[in-house]
Amino acid sequence: DLYNFRLIGPNTKVHGVIGNPISHSKSPHLYNPAFKFVGFDGIYLPFLVDNVSHFLHTFSSLDFVGYSYTIPHKEDGLRCCDEVDPIAKEIGAISCMIKRPHDGKLMGYNVDYLGAIAAIEEGLAELNGRSKSDSPLSGRLFVVMGAGGAGKALAYGAKAKGARVVVANRTFAKAKELAEKVRGEAIVLSELDKFHSEEGMVLANTTSVGMKPNIDHTPLPKEVLKHYCLVFDAIYTPKLTRLLREAQEAGAAIVYGTEMFINQAFVQFQNFTNLPAPKQFIRDVLAKNT
Ligand code: ATR
Repeated sequence: DLYNFRLIGPNTKVHGVIGNPISHSKSPHLYNPAFKFVGFDGIYLPFLVDNVSHFLHTFSSLDFVGYSYTIPHKEDGLRCCDEVDPIAKEIGAISCMIKRPHDGKLMGYNVDYLGAIAAIEEGLAELNGRSKSDSPLSGRLFVVMGAGGAGKALAYGAKAKGARVVVANRTFAKAKELAEKVRGEAIVLSELDKFHSEEGMVLANTTSVGMKPNIDHTPLPKEVLKHYCLVFDAIYTPKLTRLLREAQEAGAAIVYGTEMFINQAFVQFQNFTNLPAPKQFIRDVLAKNT
């Protein structure tokens, strides 16, 4: 039922999500019903991929329209594009690849940061009230854990909103490289508990620590969480990670990874179909599947 196999025909547009692991991905559960809902002739499949370049080569004759990229292939995906939009290039990672219809060129985009930053701003506005002009991130200390594709997206997104960015990563060299690009500060993840604190800090996790099946793991000790007013976790399986549960217990506002996912799904749906996303339908489908 998910893939509507009886409906697949010569004009069906093929899409997929490329990752490893991939079985946890909610994307097929979202796009297949949404395509059907708006009457779009398309399917969306999960692909467990080791090597992106080999995969794209093998499937190059397939008439696909677009792929989503997830852990750990967002950076490899970018290297396989013919053209990359400027923000994705700066981030160094893509979340979405579209095959341009008239010449078959592979176009890379990154829409990760749009959804995450919007959800974090919304959470802060709920805490502090809205300001007409400034982003609630402006001038704020924004700590990003992780320096992979999602970490870069969050760091650039927060920087663009005027936040002061701190990058905390297991591998210090990667934290330093990203921090330099966003004129921020770098720190080793395991030392984050020693980091000086100030009022109103925001914490964003983009590491895979706490992702199913390792749900009993968290990237930093519970005691540290009391220093933050809002904690965001990019992980969305499980929805309530240990990090978010402990942040809630420490009195912080929390923003689920599902919000990032929902917002980027709207953008990707439009990229794939050239149709406006059925937003409430997508929210309802996700609510049923979480
Ligand atoms: P994504 O594109 O989703 O950001 P990624 O590029 O594979 O995925 O990045 C994964 C991030 O999770 C990295 O910052 C990685 O840290 P390293 O740079 O040190 O590899 C982090 N990460 C993965 N497993 C981790 C673990 N067990 N402890 C701490 N950090 C981890």
